[in-house]
Amino acid sequence: METIVERITKDEESNSEIYEKAGRILRNGGLVAFPTETVYGLGGNALDTMASGKIYAAKGRPSDNPLIVHIADEQALEDLCENIPDNARKLAKVFWPGPLTMIMNKKSCVPESITGGLNTVAIRMPNHPVALELIRKSGIYIAAPSANTSGRPSPTRAEHVYQDLNGKIDMIIDGGSVEIGIESTIVDLSEEHPVILRPGYITKEMLEEVVGSVEIDKAIIGQMNSNAVPKAPGMKYKHYAPKGELFVVENETLNTDEKVIDKINQLAAEMKQKGYKTGILATDATVDKYKADIVISVGNREDEISVSSQLFASLRRFDDEGVDYIYSEGFSTENVGMAIMNRLMKAAGGKLIKV
Ligand code: TXA
Ligand code: MG
Repeated sequence: METIVERITKDEESNSEIYEKAGRILRNGGLVAFPTETVYGLGGNALDTMASGKIYAAKGRPSDNPLIVHIADEQALEDLCENIPDNARKLAKVFWPGPLTMIMNKKSCVPESITGGLNTVAIRMPNHPVALELIRKSGIYIAAPSANTSGRPSPTRAEHVYQDLNGKIDMIIDGGSVEIGIESTIVDLSEEHPVILRPGYITKEMLEEVVGSVEIDKAIIGQMNSNAVPKAPGMKYKHYAPKGELFVVENETLNTDEKVIDKINQLAAEMKQKGYKTGILATDATVDKYKADIVISVGNREDEISVSSQLFASLRRFDDEGVDYIYSEGFSTENVGMAIMNRLMKAAGGKLIKV
């Protein structure tokens, strides 16, 4: 299959042709990748079982891992969900459109093929003009996982989607780099007490201001070192992983100091000596202090979004360069830091070195 790539520009007329073409593909059961404010999504008609089958096939995704349904107006909740809780309406008012996905009981029109057999469905209204326009123009609800091959880092630029899915999907809409760079916060509202199943830009504290106390799935708090089974099926898989072996190195204070820097340099030197290609994921303040084949700053530690937006692209760069061993600084788990460390630890398969 030939994958068409179309770029959104300032030219309204050509953009409108792109949306029409993409809408036609989606209504006919095809697949279109598009930007959201978090990561690029791989879209298909959420209520068309054939289309969702194609999504799973293109990504190589296990069929028990459910998809998020993307909507453009709150009215859609009535079509898709049963017993919509008050908390969902309150959260929608404050955070939609935005990087928050809510799990609710599904209506029977939502096929089990997209919910992994569960009787709940994940819903999100993305805050990106291209995503919203695509949903509106296509006139359907769009099921969209992140547009990467299953297991690889999520795509934050159209080129990443192209690398993974060229020839496997009908179209990629290139809307430039995304803003946030890590996937939406997922909150489960299907039970009495709200529970965060995946941390993201919308933090526990932000949710609690609207709905009172919110819990975090125990499997997330324990990161990979716990035996608790995560409630979001997708969180149990190895994920976001570069091809090289990644290790996170941190000290007790979680603030990178000379001890961390020395340890990372020592580990990288040992591997280089053995003939491996080495990489280091640093931050702006430390990038000049490291020695390896490839040293990348993921961003400014004081500015969480600068880090979240570059994390997956940085991991992909190590792949592009054929790096065998990667060492990364750790991050504080306050606020968005929790989501950053969650993705980084998953990418590392839980490999943490304490100094
Ligand atoms: O930011 C995002 O959420 C991006 C963009 C494209 O919107 N999408 C995304 O989708 O990250 P995906 O498929 O990569 O991750 C969806 C996660 C998986 O961990 C899945 O297990 C969980 O949502 N999920 C979906 N439906 C669920 C349900 N009914 N119950 C529990 N977890 C669910
Ligand atoms: Mg994903």
